[in-house]
Amino acid sequence: MYASTLTILHLAFLLLPITSLSPFPSPLHVPTRPPPVPANPYLWCQLPTPYNWTVIDSSHVAVTHPTTTPFYLDYTAQIQTVYKSRAAAKSSLLRACRPNHFPNITPLKVIDTTFGLGSDAITLAALHATSNHPLSIFGIEQSPAPYELSYAALDHLHSSTPHNITLIMADANTILHHHRNHLTNGTATLVDFEYVDLIYVDVMFPAKKGSASPKKGMGMLRDLLPAVNVTRDCELVDLARAIIREQGGGRVVVKRDRKSPTLSEDKPTFVVGEKERVRFDVYLY
Ligand SMILES: C[S@@+](CC[C@H](N)C(=O)[O-])C[C@H]1O[C@@H](n2cnc3c(N)ncnc32)[C@H](O)[C@@H]1O
Repeated sequence: MYASTLTILHLAFLLLPITSLSPFPSPLHVPTRPPPVPANPYLWCQLPTPYNWTVIDSSHVAVTHPTTTPFYLDYTAQIQTVYKSRAAAKSSLLRACRPNHFPNITPLKVIDTTFGLGSDAITLAALHATSNHPLSIFGIEQSPAPYELSYAALDHLHSSTPHNITLIMADANTILHHHRNHLTNGTATLVDFEYVDLIYVDVMFPAKKGSASPKKGMGMLRDLLPAVNVTRDCELVDLARAIIREQGGGRVVVKRDRKSPTLSEDKPTFVVGEKERVRFDVYLY
């Protein structure tokens, strides 16, 4: 009896300093982050000078540069534009990404390996929503600046328009590599779904020689991204194709500048928008 009372007292004593410390400072807490946005609780990256973050209002966070107006994403406005635009419904993007089949029950599963500012993903999701074939998009973005902007915009959009888009900050080559292993060996994967209808790849095109970096959107963010690495980009396409092939069907769509070479030694099954500013190399399985 005496011994057990002692043990309880002992335990209580041991726990005291721990409980007195609570609540624990969150390991995710970053003190420099200005309230109340961004929505993303995971990071608030430091941008290289002269770029900076600014809070526009309670729901918008923007990147600033001295030579331009603050840049932020508004997916609600973008979706409205897509709905109004007849051109979008006939766009090469939509034609390239049209699925092999339309499952009646489940949404089409898409991995956007290069989410960037989410423009293509949002356009596709909006167009599919109107055609009664909803998409479920798993987005991957490697760079903190576009990731932050897109994450905040997705979060804001969700409050008015619930959507099926998740976004993680990671290297898509690594994620696809693990997913491929998962399909063959059953090891862990971060991808939300087993079967993927479409893997979308839109790596940065090399900057045009002599052109000053445009200070808007992706042009502005180009300064904040790692240099183009064609070997890595080709590996990404190879991995995407291997996954779709090995799972037994689906498509890989690779967006390219009109004059850029394909990112694979194999010829695409077909090309959409060959004569336009950008084309889409489609690999069908
Ligand atoms: C041309 S942008 C994509 C634009 C996007 N499709 C849109 O509509 O906004 C290319 C993006 O892919 C990202 N990226 C390139 N390689 C990647 C990789 N291996 N993993 C994850 N993101 C990658 C870059 O950081 C950049 O933000």
